Amino acid sequence: METSRTQVVIIGAGPAGLLLGQFLLQQGIDHIIIELRSADYVLGRVRAGVLEEPTVRALREAGVGERMDREGLKMSGFNLMWNDRQVHINFGLVNKVATVYGQTKVTEDLMDARKAKGGITEYEASNVQPHDFDTSRPWVSYEKEGRQFRIDCDFIAGCDGHHGVTRKSVPSDQIKTFDYAFPFGWLAILADVPPISEEVAWINHTDGFLMCSLRSKTRSRYYFQVPKGEDIKNWNADLFWTEYRRRLPASLTDRLVTGPALEMSLTPLSSSVSTPMRFGRMFLTGDAAHIVPPTGAKGLNMAMADAKRLFEGLRQFYNDGGDMGLLNTYSDDSLSRVWKAVRFSWWMTNLSHKLSDNPFNREMQIAELEYIAQSVAAQTTIAENFCGLD
Ligand code: APR
Repeated sequence: METSRTQVVIIGAGPAGLLLGQFLLQQGIDHIIIELRSADYVLGRVRAGVLEEPTVRALREAGVGERMDREGLKMSGFNLMWNDRQVHINFGLVNKVATVYGQTKVTEDLMDARKAKGGITEYEASNVQPHDFDTSRPWVSYEKEGRQFRIDCDFIAGCDGHHGVTRKSVPSDQIKTFDYAFPFGWLAILADVPPISEEVAWINHTDGFLMCSLRSKTRSRYYFQVPKGEDIKNWNADLFWTEYRRRLPASLTDRLVTGPALEMSLTPLSSSVSTPMRFGRMFLTGDAAHIVPPTGAKGLNMAMADAKRLFEGLRQFYNDGGDMGLLNTYSDDSLSRVWKAVRFSWWMTNLSHKLSDNPFNREMQIAELEYIAQSVAAQTTIAENFCGLD
């Protein structure tokens, strides 16, 4: 086995691992990122696209905000629609904006910056395994191209997503996971067609939720609700557009431009939170610790917030003579924010989706939507949560 030593081993090169790595590079804290997949595979994953202000600030602080500031679209609000009614949620109520900028671009910017600064990422590493994280001498093993490696370190950052290895390495009596699965998912299309509107819309339709979203002025991202267990093989772009147009409010159908699918995918809607987020010298960050339904656009933002917080703890440790203060509070501080974002994502999902065949549920949704339409207090609460709690 080939052995080496670094200060921090980051497992996973998604947005959380890359942002943490970028901050560590800036501070000169020695580290390595170990990633299961290839760089191209990571870049090819189409996911989130709305950034909260704290995320935008973190990316700027990490020195990767230049293209985001140039190309990102400012989102000053969104529409909630039902029947022939709508309410505009104005972010001006909380003096904030959100930024539309795809996760693939965030990932690409972070990868480019890492390359330019000479950061080391081992892609296509298999059998990655954290060891001895409950001691002061943790280490990580992995295999690559038939060779076996061991890296000793001070800390392990588990940034390896919901299906990663770090959470699974924790003894079951030391971790508690709260899971909630909705009985439906989203069918999504990505297409190079101008968006229906630059104002994103969440639409409650009797037959199920749909959403008009975008990645740029020329690239649209549309979704609608499908039952759990739906098979993507049953769908193609034509079938998608037909069902999407059928559910669209009449006021929007004229503006729908259709085209070939760049990508189509199915996303299950579920929440999961694992507590705590720290196990000795190993920390869980981002999707490794929690996932949310995409309805509130929170997943990427939660991952970035965790990565920033973990970095603050590591910076304190290395700059202040081994002070563990912020690392000791990392889990509690992160979870306090995480649960609020999980709640908002769960609430937005309940408000906008067909929950069951019982018409009572929809009457409750309509009553709540009508209340939101008449209450500036309710609109302010939504804007505050959507734009990101500080
Ligand atoms: N060993 C090494 N790397 C791994 C392993 C493993 N055993 N398992 C998974 N990985 C890698 C994945 O290939 C992926 O590149 O860890 C990375 C985790 O990245 P993400 O899943 O993107 O998670 P995160 O960085 O926390 O970002 C969360 O991504 O899932 C979306 O909506 C979510 O936008 C949010 C964001």
